[in-house]
Amino acid sequence: MSPVNKPKNNSPYAKLIRKSKEEKKKASWIKGGPNLYILTATAVGFVALYYYVKQKMKQQHVALLKNTIMDEENVLIGGNWELINQDGEKVSNKDYEGDWCLIYFGFTHCPDICPDEIEKIVEVMDILGKNPGLPKLKALFVTVDPERDSPESLKTYLAEFSDKIVGLTGNADELRKIWNAFKVYHSMGPKDEDGDYIVDHSIITYLMNPNGKYEGHFARSKTNIDVANAVEKKMNIWKPKS
Ligand code: NI
Repeated sequence: MSPVNKPKNNSPYAKLIRKSKEEKKKASWIKGGPNLYILTATAVGFVALYYYVKQKMKQQHVALLKNTIMDEENVLIGGNWELINQDGEKVSNKDYEGDWCLIYFGFTHCPDICPDEIEKIVEVMDILGKNPGLPKLKALFVTVDPERDSPESLKTYLAEFSDKIVGLTGNADELRKIWNAFKVYHSMGPKDEDGDYIVDHSIITYLMNPNGKYEGHFARSKTNIDVANAVEKKMNIWKPKS
């Protein structure tokens, strides 16, 4: 006789065993209950945290976009400035009028982002330089770390990339003026035991037209091709004010 077909044992002793087994099962379910609640609460917590972080990032992004001004009808970027170039000479925005110009703000001790952006600018200049029909494009690198970026150190540093980018520094007031004019965000981090520090800063390349006016800006996400195409388009449709 197989155990499946075994008739139910209804003896009081067998009933007692069955009851005790059932109670054990129930008890273990109750025991498992709170674990289930903890799991659910944790999952809900993670989902809430995910949306909170996402929302926070979105708010920061919106703030950044507002800060850099997307609406070209109401452009408030750019203005007059007077700085010191990498050869120690006084230069101003007027010296760069008459040509298209890219302006980037960074610092020579930047570990990876500034080098990438400088390389990108050089590549953009190389790409556009191959088209003889296009006007000349200049590029400026303005420091957000004047404490370490002297004219000499800017010159040495930028020469590693290209001789096409000119480094600019200046006194505190003049630098503050250009940073404000371009809505540049920057914040000095804590110094380590060697006195080394990172400067957190906005990563934006600005395009100025030959009138010295803002024509647009490019975020870090834009590739060399994106920027070259956008600059070329701007150059082609731009007409000097008569
Ligand atoms: Ni940087």
